[in-house]
Amino acid sequence: MLIKIAKKYDVKESHVTDEVLYINRRKFVQTSVSVAALTAIPALTLFPRIESAELDFKSIKKSKYSTDEELTPFDDITRYNNFYELGLKKGDPKRNAHHLKVKPWSVKVEGECKKPGEYNLEDFILPSKLEERIYRLRCVEAWSMVIPWVGVELGAVLKHFQPTSKAKYVQFFTLYDPENLPGQRRPVLDWPYREGLRIDEAMHPLCILAVGLYGNELPNQNGAPLRLVVPWKYGFKSIKSIVSIRFTEDQPATSWNLAGPREYGFYSNVNPDVDHPRWSQKKERRIGEVFKRRTLPFNGYADQVAGLYEGMDLARYY
Ligand code: MTE
Repeated sequence: MLIKIAKKYDVKESHVTDEVLYINRRKFVQTSVSVAALTAIPALTLFPRIESAELDFKSIKKSKYSTDEELTPFDDITRYNNFYELGLKKGDPKRNAHHLKVKPWSVKVEGECKKPGEYNLEDFILPSKLEERIYRLRCVEAWSMVIPWVGVELGAVLKHFQPTSKAKYVQFFTLYDPENLPGQRRPVLDWPYREGLRIDEAMHPLCILAVGLYGNELPNQNGAPLRLVVPWKYGFKSIKSIVSIRFTEDQPATSWNLAGPREYGFYSNVNPDVDHPRWSQKKERRIGEVFKRRTLPFNGYADQVAGLYEGMDLARYY
């Protein structure tokens, strides 16, 4: 993301959301944050504990959804990052990675579902479900990488929380911990970072919750211990270090849309035909390559996901 947007953080969510919803949402955020901070609260067990709780990464399955393109080197994936909680420059997240404390980690689940609660990470990420998913990541800033993630299908996890028929969307929050996360001491975004998907997008088999890359645990700067990966959308949708998941009836607020609604839409599907107001999205630079390459609609995943948006004007719903 380009920092010029930071000037717009004073576009308050109350300007774009009905005031009552805004106040309720703030209450929810405060509650979820304080609950996330209270590690003393016993977390629930979602699945019967038939497997080791440790994610040992030893028997990761290959996925049919992987691309066979050349991988971006580990070094580039882990030293050129966007993670504003750990700083604004691309090298900051690696330098400040030690400020993020990832063990123990639990996730609060709430909203329109039959199994709300506070869950240990190890209770819903089962080792037997771990897959390697090699995906292209296309950042809205027009660079891209090819990353061998390790993760599980998001839809399979969400189903276990039993969303009700009112769950039309799902929202995610990153932890809020300004004492430890240097980036959160500055009002660059309306913290905590939050993202959202329509429920059918979230249930699409391409969506994963990643816990690793290159066969090992996620480095902190890449969103440890748990992050979203939505390969057909601009990278900012793939929220890092998730502490809360909320099923909602209405379209939820998302961080970059709050910061600059004209520049960052809710959908944010990779689309070479819809330019960002300040730069073109037609091409991208693959990290490590000299020449730019053409950006593909839906980041090259159109065959799998275009159907989700049938009949929608993608220039309007950008
Ligand atoms: N999640 C949080 N919590 N904070 C962030 O600043 N940046 C987003 C996304 N998820 C971000 C985040 C952006 S802009 C991108 S491009 C990707 O993470 C980058 O992921 P990577 O650093 O693993 O390549």
